[in-house]
Amino acid sequence: MNDKRTNIIRPLKIGNVMLENNLALAPMAGTTDLVYRSICRELGAGLTVTELVSARGIVYDPQLKKTYRYLEIMPEENPVAIQLFGSEPEDFKTAINTVLSHPLLGQCALIDLNMGCPVTKVVRQGAGSALTKDPEQTARVMAASAAAAAAYGKSVTAKIRTGWDDDSINCVEIARILEKEGAASITVHARTRSQMYSGKADWGQIARVRDAISVPLYGNGDVDSPASAEAMVAQTGADGIMIGRAAQGNPWIFARFFSESEIAAKLDFQTDGMPPKQTRILWMLRHLDGMISRVGEEVAIREMRTQTVCYLRGTHNAASFRYRLMLAKTRAEVAAILDEWLQES
Ligand SMILES: Cc1cc2nc3c(=O)[nH]c(=O)nc-3n(C[C@H](O)[C@H](O)[C@H](O)COP(=O)(O)O)c2cc1C
Repeated sequence: MNDKRTNIIRPLKIGNVMLENNLALAPMAGTTDLVYRSICRELGAGLTVTELVSARGIVYDPQLKKTYRYLEIMPEENPVAIQLFGSEPEDFKTAINTVLSHPLLGQCALIDLNMGCPVTKVVRQGAGSALTKDPEQTARVMAASAAAAAAYGKSVTAKIRTGWDDDSINCVEIARILEKEGAASITVHARTRSQMYSGKADWGQIARVRDAISVPLYGNGDVDSPASAEAMVAQTGADGIMIGRAAQGNPWIFARFFSESEIAAKLDFQTDGMPPKQTRILWMLRHLDGMISRVGEEVAIREMRTQTVCYLRGTHNAASFRYRLMLAKTRAEVAAILDEWLQES
């Protein structure tokens, strides 16, 4: 790899949390489980975020019987933010109290509010990206959340999109409101809700938000290498870089930002920006084994399928191996398929 050491990496302070660096793994439902997050941390991500969890779901489940699996964090992955979604200030207040009074969950670094999810079942409740269509409700949610977290000495951050659609871009207005009501940092995913995940991220909107607020800002959308991160930061002035899809099945992307580090040297990046297959398999099995030890073989294999196949990205004949991995039911089967993949030139 010829990625030079980038000059965009630096420590970042959010509220009273000092982050080692300004790289973050984006929250991704079904992808950013706690084992994967801890791997990304080890490989260089300065901050990770859980997938979105319903604030109302926590209100109805105060013992966290159903939601714990999605909220669980590992102390060694810290700093980690726990992400909540919802539409009612009272739900956030109760959920934040429940989370922050829990002996393990209360060790999280930050609470993050999801104000960007485009999924119908979330926006139908007025949550996710729908919340930011209503600036007053957005303000109430932020204020209630910040106050609830402050009682535990914690800060609250928020992740937004640029707007609902091209005719209602309002990220500058929303970011100003969020800052006023106590957000310790803001992430802008530079797409509208209508775009979902398609089209190009509009980094120009990140720049507009940067000019409008004083708290740290993470730029998000279409960063897939140190070079694209540098371009995003140069165009926007963003303080932090949040990486989503490019990290799926590719936790090593974070190590590429530290090309002089010991871990990067060990990874021996190839011209495609990936470690050799053998190394990829070792890390992938580590991820799988970590999940197996938590949820058992059957559930781990089933739930990790979409991630397992991402680990094969960009390799010759990947499609046929991916297909077989989707059908695998045991760790032994997964390992045997990966062994064949290793032999494939
Ligand atoms: C499979 C998937 C699940 C996601 N889940 C969440 C989520 O739980 N919370 C959230 O704020 N964003 C979620 N996102 C959005 C990402 O955090 C990120 O904003 C988006 O993918 C754009 O960044 P990227 O271009 O680096 O992928 C998800 C994205 C994907 C692809």
